[in-house]
Amino acid sequence: MALTENSSRGSWNSKLGFILAAAGSAVGLGNIWRFPTETASNGGAAFILVYLVCCFLIGFPVMMAELSIGRNTRKNPVGAFKALAGGNKFYPLIGIWGVICGVMILSYYTVIAGWTVSYVFEEIFFFMGMTDWATWIANTENGTLNAIFSIVFMGATISIIIGGVSDGIERATKTMMPLLIAILIIMIGYVVTQPGSGEGLSVYLKPDFAEITPGLIFAAMGQAFFSLSLGMGALITYGSYLNSKENIPGAAAYVTLTDVSIAFLAGLLIIPTMYMAQSQGITIFADDGSLIAGPALIFQILPELFHELGGVLGLIFGVSFFLLLSVAALTSTISLLEVPVSYAIDEHSIPRKKAAMGVGAGILIISLVISFNVSLIDIIDLIFSQVGLPLGGILICLFLGYVWKTENAFREIDSGYSGFSNTLFGKIWSILVMVICPIVILYNLLSAIGLL
Ligand code: TRP
Repeated sequence: MALTENSSRGSWNSKLGFILAAAGSAVGLGNIWRFPTETASNGGAAFILVYLVCCFLIGFPVMMAELSIGRNTRKNPVGAFKALAGGNKFYPLIGIWGVICGVMILSYYTVIAGWTVSYVFEEIFFFMGMTDWATWIANTENGTLNAIFSIVFMGATISIIIGGVSDGIERATKTMMPLLIAILIIMIGYVVTQPGSGEGLSVYLKPDFAEITPGLIFAAMGQAFFSLSLGMGALITYGSYLNSKENIPGAAAYVTLTDVSIAFLAGLLIIPTMYMAQSQGITIFADDGSLIAGPALIFQILPELFHELGGVLGLIFGVSFFLLLSVAALTSTISLLEVPVSYAIDEHSIPRKKAAMGVGAGILIISLVISFNVSLIDIIDLIFSQVGLPLGGILICLFLGYVWKTENAFREIDSGYSGFSNTLFGKIWSILVMVICPIVILYNLLSAIGLL
C-alpha cells in the first residue's frame, strides 16, 4: 500500500501511484492465463465481443461504484458497508462475502502464480540442455513442487503487504507493463509468421454469432469481474486510500482500457500459438471440442513457442515472459491479500504485520491443499469467481443505488470531477448501476444455471 506517514490510515502518494496500483491489481494471471483459456474454450471471437460488452457496460460502472464507496468511507469492504448501512446488520454481509471470495480466489491464484516462477527455471534448464530437469520442473501436477512455489509466492506477497509498498508497487508496475506489452507484441509478430497460426488468428478475430450461448455470456461476465478485480471489494479497499481530488471516472476508464488491451494482446499471442502447436501434432482439443490442458493450457503452449524460437533468443524471451508474468501476478495477489488484511486491521484492531502474516498463513494452508489437488482449481474458480464476483457486483450496485443512494455517490465523485452528476455520462452511469447492471447480471447468472 502506498501509505504516507502522516495519516493513520494512509493514502496513495500520488495519482499515478493509485492508478498504477489499481492497474497492477487488474493486470495479472486473469489477462494472460485465464482470458486466453476462456476464449479458447468458448469459441474465440464471439467470446471476446461479449467480454468487451461486459467490461464496459458492467465492469466499468461497478468499478466506479466500488471506488466511490471506498473513498467515501475510507474503510475496508466490511467496515464500508457497516458505515453506510445505518445500523442494518445484513448489509455488512456483502463485505464479508467479498472477503470470503478474495480468500478463496487468492488460495488458488497463489498456486498458478507459483507455476509462473517454476517456468522461469524450466526455460533456463531447457536452454542449458537439461531437458530432464526442464520436464521435471514443468510438471504442474507435482504436489510438492506446487507447494514449494506457493510458499515462495505467498511469502513474497506477505512481505510486500507488511512493508507498505508505495514505491514497490509503483516501480514494479511502471516498468513491468510496458515491458510485458513489448514482449507480447514481438512474440505476436513472430508467431503469425509460423505455419498453422493463421487458423488461430481467424478463430480469434472472426466472430461466429451462433456461438453466443448463456454459457458463453456467463463465462465472459465472470472473466470481466475477475480481470478487473471487481465484486469483492478490492477496489473499495484501494479507493479508501484515494485522495478526494482524484477523478474516479477517469481512473476507472484508464484501468479498464489498460486491462482489456493487455488481455486482447495475450489472446492474440496464445490462440495462434495453440494452432501452431496443433499443426505440429500436439493435441489441444478433445473430440468434444473441450480443452485437454485445462488450467495448465498456457504453461503447455507457450514454452513450445519459446523452444521453437530456440537459442539465446528463446531463453531471453522465455525467461523475461515468465518473470514479468510473476510480477504481474504479484501486483494482483497484493490486492487480493490487502482486502482481508485491511479488514483484520480496521475491524479487529490487529496490527498490520500480524494481520498480514496470520491471514496469509491461513490462506496458504488452502493453497497447499490445492497444490496436491490441482483439479480443485476449476471448482473453486466456478463458485468464488464466476458466480461469487458477479453476485457481489449485484449487491454492490443495489446497495449503492437504494441504500446509500446515488446522490451521495454523485457528491463523492463530483469532488474530483466537478459537475459529473450533471453530465450525460453521469446520468447513464446511475441508470447502469441502479437498473441495468443488477438485472443483466442476475439474468445471466440465472440463465447459466438453467433457471431462465
Ligand atoms: N484481476 C487480477 C487478474 O486479472 C486478479 C485479481 C486481483 C482479482 N484482485 C482481485 C480478482 C480481486 C477478483 C477480485 O489476474
